Amino acid sequence: MSLQKALCHHAFGQPADVLRLEQVEVPEPKAGEVRVRLSAAVINPSDYGMIGGSYGHLRELPAVAGREGVGVVDALGRGVFSVGVGARVRFPENGAWQETACMPASDLLMVPGDVPVEQAAFSFINPPTAYCLLKKIVHLAPGSWVVQNAGNSAVGMAVIQMAKVMGLKTISQVRREELVAPLQAMGADHVVLEGSGWPKQVQALTGGEPIRLALNSIGGDSAIDQIKALGEGGTQVTFGGMVGDPVRFPTRFLIFNDVRLVGFWWDKWSRKAGSKGLGEVMGAVYGMLRDGSLKLPVEATYSFDQYQAAFRHDKRPRLGKILLKP
Ligand SMILES: NC(=O)c1ccc[n+]([C@@H]2O[C@H](COP(=O)([O-])OP(=O)(O)OC[C@H]3O[C@@H](n4cnc5c(N)ncnc54)[C@H](OP(=O)(O)O)[C@@H]3O)[C@@H](O)[C@H]2O)c1
Repeated sequence: MSLQKALCHHAFGQPADVLRLEQVEVPEPKAGEVRVRLSAAVINPSDYGMIGGSYGHLRELPAVAGREGVGVVDALGRGVFSVGVGARVRFPENGAWQETACMPASDLLMVPGDVPVEQAAFSFINPPTAYCLLKKIVHLAPGSWVVQNAGNSAVGMAVIQMAKVMGLKTISQVRREELVAPLQAMGADHVVLEGSGWPKQVQALTGGEPIRLALNSIGGDSAIDQIKALGEGGTQVTFGGMVGDPVRFPTRFLIFNDVRLVGFWWDKWSRKAGSKGLGEVMGAVYGMLRDGSLKLPVEATYSFDQYQAAFRHDKRPRLGKILLKP
């Protein structure tokens, strides 16, 4: 029996408390399945929710943690002819922090070979979410204004770069001054500091044009600021809650400004969209990753053995994702 490394948890809790590097059996693909070998995986906020037991869907314990990574097919089960060994694919999402895993060949998501592996590793959740937030919630004519908080998150940086491609204009909120210049270099029209009373400056920043869409992944006061900045009939989409505070809404803005508050969850959207809808979104994402109009920074890469340092780093101020490699 051969063994491989896997980052596992046997209880729900903080990664530092419950995550362990274990040796598990290397799986053999059954009929109709392939085995995928991990090239690189990523740490996302939703991993904390899944490991902590608070996410929208959870795994049975004990579980291998991690949701997002890219790999190559390294073994074929009986009757698999649709894909060959060496094909680059999304790593099975039901436990991405392990060396290999098996999945049905029919469920594979193919990844273009000319997308850099570090970009491919986190191309499956945040960039398509950014694309959907800009394309699937409200119709935005070129030149429309979009505001967002967490402008330096992976979603936020994808929004900035995709908005540029789509001819949209962005105002991005961040918590640290040193993020302003790098986000502007990525194409952000305006970058403002949290707590700077920016809803009052919006008129000046947009030249009086209304804000059509606000993207909220923080909650609390930041979300309220956004609602106040929205123009008549504008929409706020909540897709994350980094502060954990409930989103409170200022009643008068709903009544007198007719603003709309909606939610978005990529997991559900992509399941409902089916292979055609998923193909459209991923095709757009890979098009931008290939031509370089979308490029997201990597803050650091750690091996599985260094996972505790990786999680400590993930919690420090950073600009870019923390990658995990076997
Ligand atoms: N609904 C969906 O389908 C979906 C899909 C993808 C992502 N998301 C959500 O989108 C958000 C961003 O994900 P990501 O992977 O792009 O994030 P990321 O790259 O890991 O970055 C995390 C971001 O959150 C900010 N942040 C953390 N704690 C904060 C706090 N207490 N107050 C204000 N800001 C805080 C960080 O700002 P600092 O650098 O200043 O700490 C940083 O901008 C998360 O909430 C995630 O769950 C949702």
